[in-house]
Parts: sequence; C-alpha cells; structure tokens
Amino acid sequence: MKKKVTVWAPANIAFIKFWGKRDEELRLPMNSSISINLSNVFTITSVEFDENLTDDEVNLDGRVVSGKEKNRITKHLDRIRKMAGVNKRAKVESKNNFPAGTGMASSASGFAALSLAASSALEMRLGERELSILARVGSGSACRSIPDGWVEWQEAKTSNGSYAYSMYGLKHWGVCDVVAVVERAKKGVSSTEGHALVESSPFYKSRIARMKEKVRDIKKSIKEKNFSKFGEILEAEAINMHAVMMTSDPELIYWSPETLRIILKVKEWREGGLETYFTIDAGPNVHVICLERDAHKVEKLLRTIRGVRMVIVNRVAQGAHLV
Ligand code: PMV
Repeated sequence: MKKKVTVWAPANIAFIKFWGKRDEELRLPMNSSISINLSNVFTITSVEFDENLTDDEVNLDGRVVSGKEKNRITKHLDRIRKMAGVNKRAKVESKNNFPAGTGMASSASGFAALSLAASSALEMRLGERELSILARVGSGSACRSIPDGWVEWQEAKTSNGSYAYSMYGLKHWGVCDVVAVVERAKKGVSSTEGHALVESSPFYKSRIARMKEKVRDIKKSIKEKNFSKFGEILEAEAINMHAVMMTSDPELIYWSPETLRIILKVKEWREGGLETYFTIDAGPNVHVICLERDAHKVEKLLRTIRGVRMVIVNRVAQGAHLV
C-alpha cells in the first residue's frame, strides 16, 4: 500500500547555540542549547514510498537534486528504512517558504520534516523523543524543530540521551524574532564543516566551561519572563559563538558589512528605549529579538536599513506536524 504523508516543520533560532560536537557521526553536541520555533520560516515535505521505484527521487524547491545533496537525504531515508525493516525507495518533495540563497538555514526544518514524513509514511508511529533523536542524527539542530514552542536540546554522551523537548508551549511568552535578510558577502562554510573546526579556536575551551551556567541562567530568565536578562544573555552568547568562529583555523567570518550595521542599530534603538537584542547563526542575517508589542516597529525600522533585502516577522511556533 502506498501512503503519501505531508509535514510542516519550522526552522528554529537558538539563544544558546550548538557549536561543536562530541560525536561527529551521531551529531552529539558539546553543550545543551535553547531555542524557539519560527512561525514564518518553514519547510513543507511530502514523502511516499513506492516498491516500483528503483531509486529515491528527491525534489527540493522544484529542482531534482543529485550528488552530495541527494546523498545526505538518501542516507537519512536509509536510517528510517532500516528502523522500519523495509527496502522500498521513496519519492520526496520538499518546499521552503523562503527563497534559496537567502542564507536562511533550511536543514533544521528540512530534516525535521523529512524525519516525521518518512517515518509516518512507513507507519512507524515514533514518539516525540524518538523523532527528535532521528532528526538530530540527520542534521543536529533539526532535533529542536520537533517539539513545540520553547525548546531545550540536552547534551548527553549517548544518542538516546540527547534529544529536544518542549520547556513551554506557544503561549508562554510573546517574544518575536524579526529576521533581517541581507546581501550575502560570499557563500559561507556550512555549519557541518564549521563544527569540526571548534577545537582550533583558543577560546573554545573557555566557551564550553561556562555553558552549563549560561543555560541555567537563560532558563531562569525565560521562566520569569525577564526580557532584559534574557536579551543580555542571548546577545552575549551570539558574540561568544562568533568569536570562536572567527578565531578558528581556518577562520570563519560569517558577517557582512550589513550584519554589523544592524548590530549597531539594535544597540542604538535599545539606548533610545526600544528594547531589542540580536542573535546571528552561521550566516550574515540578523535575528532581532523583541517583545510582540514592538515587532511591527522593529520590522519597519529594519526595512529602512541599507542592504536589508527582506524582513520576516516570526512568533513562537509549533514543532513539526502532519498537514
Ligand atoms: O544543526 P547545524 O549543524 O546546522 O548547526 C547549527 C549551528 C548554528 O545555527 C550556528 C547554531 C544553532 O544552535 O542553531
């Protein structure tokens, strides 16, 4: 019997970041990380297994993919086939709601969607924890796009211990992520390659040494809805991760001139009484974190900055689910 399953899965933004792995193959992180799911940056994926197919067929954003890109997806499908004890090839169709080349990470939403869609198409009925572990092996931070809302991904020495769970649902706190998509300086080094360089930064050890404390402090600020404390920690954390990136060998510079222009604006707005903070992933786009009541104003202000190509307002969203 053929069964086509379609899944919606969000991208997520981390306030405490995952940068550096203790196990490359299993994608076990060196430290726990904290994130929210994004309501307006997402992937929709359909999967159908078919015994008449001789090979997996993968279509991403209307393009038939092959080579390295396809191999990573086939490898993930192989894991799922092995778990289910089947051999059938699959037809995968995946669409992102954001244009390619904007530097918005698609692997988190993509692998979260693929994990749920493929396992459901094989009627495996995995629980949230198992799904999060499966998504993690596909693409690290994808495990955080499985549970709803405010999420913690726990570090652990074993695969079974390292999964993401929902700390709070969507209604806990009205925080928004207003993303400023900017011009790309050049195609950056992928996060998969970047993680492998952490040990070469002289600052990595001191970063890791403070991680447990940071995770504890930010969780307290989220629980108490203390936006100033929350913002102070997440902004310092983004700078800390980029300091490690910039000082690894070879160095990783993800920022473009626009990135710094926005950072300085956010600080200026804050001094003027508009409470906003920034965080940045492995790319030049800036995520401006604010309270819901200020989101519209922040969006308008970001649109006036030279080099900002697009602005995407996100609320806290659900995790991956069938549609
Ligand atoms: O999941 P990966 O391998 O794409 O790594 C994610 C890396 C960052 O986006 C920079 C940080 C994070 O925790 O999302």
